[in-house]
Amino acid sequence: MNSTSARITTIVTSMLAAVLAGAPVMAQQQRVASIIDYGSRHHSVIDQGGMVAVQNAIAAEVGADILAAGGNAVDAAVAVGLTLAVTLPRAGNLGGGGFMLVYLADEDRTIAIDYRERAPGAASRDMFLKADGEPDNRASRFSYRSAGVPGTVAGMHHALTQYGSMSWREVLEPAIRVASRGMQVSLDLSQTLKRRRESLGRDPETLRTYYMAVGAPFEAGDTLRLMDLAWSLTALAIDGPDAFYRGVIAEKIVAAMQANDGLITLDDLDNYRITEREPVVGTYREATIVSMPPPSSGGVLLIQMLNVLEQFELGSFGYGSAKAVHLMAEAMRRAYADRSEHLGDPDYYTAPVDWLMSKAYSRKLAAEIDLRAARRSADIAPGVNAGYESPDTTHYAVVDAAGNVVANTYTLNFSYGSGITVPGTGILLNNEMDDFSAKPGSPNGYGLLGGEANAIEAGKRPLSSMTPTIVFRDGKPWIVTGSPGGSRIITTVLQVIVNVIDFEMSISDAVAAPRFHNQWFPDRLFMEPGFSPDTLAILDEMGHEIDARPRTMGSAQTILLEDGYQKGAADPRRPDALAIGPRSLGCRNAKVACAH
Ligand code: DON
Repeated sequence: MNSTSARITTIVTSMLAAVLAGAPVMAQQQRVASIIDYGSRHHSVIDQGGMVAVQNAIAAEVGADILAAGGNAVDAAVAVGLTLAVTLPRAGNLGGGGFMLVYLADEDRTIAIDYRERAPGAASRDMFLKADGEPDNRASRFSYRSAGVPGTVAGMHHALTQYGSMSWREVLEPAIRVASRGMQVSLDLSQTLKRRRESLGRDPETLRTYYMAVGAPFEAGDTLRLMDLAWSLTALAIDGPDAFYRGVIAEKIVAAMQANDGLITLDDLDNYRITEREPVVGTYREATIVSMPPPSSGGVLLIQMLNVLEQFELGSFGYGSAKAVHLMAEAMRRAYADRSEHLGDPDYYTAPVDWLMSKAYSRKLAAEIDLRAARRSADIAPGVNAGYESPDTTHYAVVDAAGNVVANTYTLNFSYGSGITVPGTGILLNNEMDDFSAKPGSPNGYGLLGGEANAIEAGKRPLSSMTPTIVFRDGKPWIVTGSPGGSRIITTVLQVIVNVIDFEMSISDAVAAPRFHNQWFPDRLFMEPGFSPDTLAILDEMGHEIDARPRTMGSAQTILLEDGYQKGAADPRRPDALAIGPRSLGCRNAKVACAH
């Protein structure tokens, strides 16, 4: 027998033995089938060397390069965060804040880094009320006073120095390079700058920095160089975060504040500290949910809603069925009512987090749900209508080959924040002060209500909805997700998780599937395009006030870890989003064919 036929004989014999043994062949087939999800309509990018899923392709590539160069997930995440400050100026930032979850595989431990903005020392409860006692929305959203003391630089530096392996200068280098050499303007960037031309144009420095000399928006394909931002990033490389909180950048921020009736002082910047917090932990069926604690409401509400849904056979209702949407909308309605009353910065207000996330409380909430009819939000508590909506915060996920994981959501609050750029720095300022409750019963920019727990106080962090989340299965990280979307963040994350666990979707289908949202007030059920008209009709009959205007919600850049593979699912709701690993095995042309 020659060697080829000997090999064939060996293979056939072992296959036959396996067939006779039954299960192993089946198991192997299922295993192979599960690497690429052939039952899926959308495909994830697959790798074994790590994965990044980011809303912006340039920053995603920076993250993949760092992983390829041997950096860990935190190195890549920090480099992505700093690069997004250049390439996605409407949400990526140095002048904002956010939350980062870091899972350390070696220690089997998850850390929640709170680098949320804080109210300046001179902030006070009624600072956004006009003489007639009504909230001044312009002041809380589009003025120097709308900015909280930024946390991003401190947060990124802390994550890197505590949990990364590379130097601060190394991870800053890509951002400096892109800012100073210039980047090709994408259609996405060009469109958002065009759309915001009028409002952003009110600030001369933003106009000078982000538009052409004549004030015209850049077109797709043009080169945008951000020399002032490159200067700021270089100052950070030389002096570390001190440049921002005590040095040359701090001086420029404070000078601009003083010239424009802003509140942030050198002391505020000098006193800014990040906080490491214990993540909130819950269970959902077989999975463990690890997410962001207050001052984000995200983790608590996510776990509360999942606890309620766990009491029902949601999977058997079917994805997109009126029954499933109704049940989930009722769970959402109730959770957002609790948010308005019970959640705020834990350093200033003791939130009853354990009670809100308890299985006992969820049984009570589940018992109140009528599976045939919608409740009226006004029957739960009084309310008002929502106002403005904004499309930008950003979330990204990073996983390395060693199993370390980062889920990061950060923001300027609205798209391009307050729209104000600190002169000479290229740094856009957040308008996170609007996330406080300026007046009990008056909605903020996302239509969210609040009261005492989220009232403005010096040094306090405004309540957030940002929900970076890691779902564990069998004790190992399984799904890494999160989203922008203001109040819709939490319900977006909820649906990604439920789509995988209850509706058994692949991760890429789970991220792409149409979503819906109810936030108690306004008493509406927002439905993305893509649900069946029959479903909408039944929901309407059940008493839901449906708003099906063609708008999308969230942008959940997500990674699923399975059998030693990392599957990246960039959310198709953002044109520049990209999931990419050092090798992107499952997808030759990750950018074109498989990013979504
Ligand atoms: O912290 C929050 O909940 C908000 N500032 C998030 C804003 C946001 O997601 C905007 N993007 N869509």
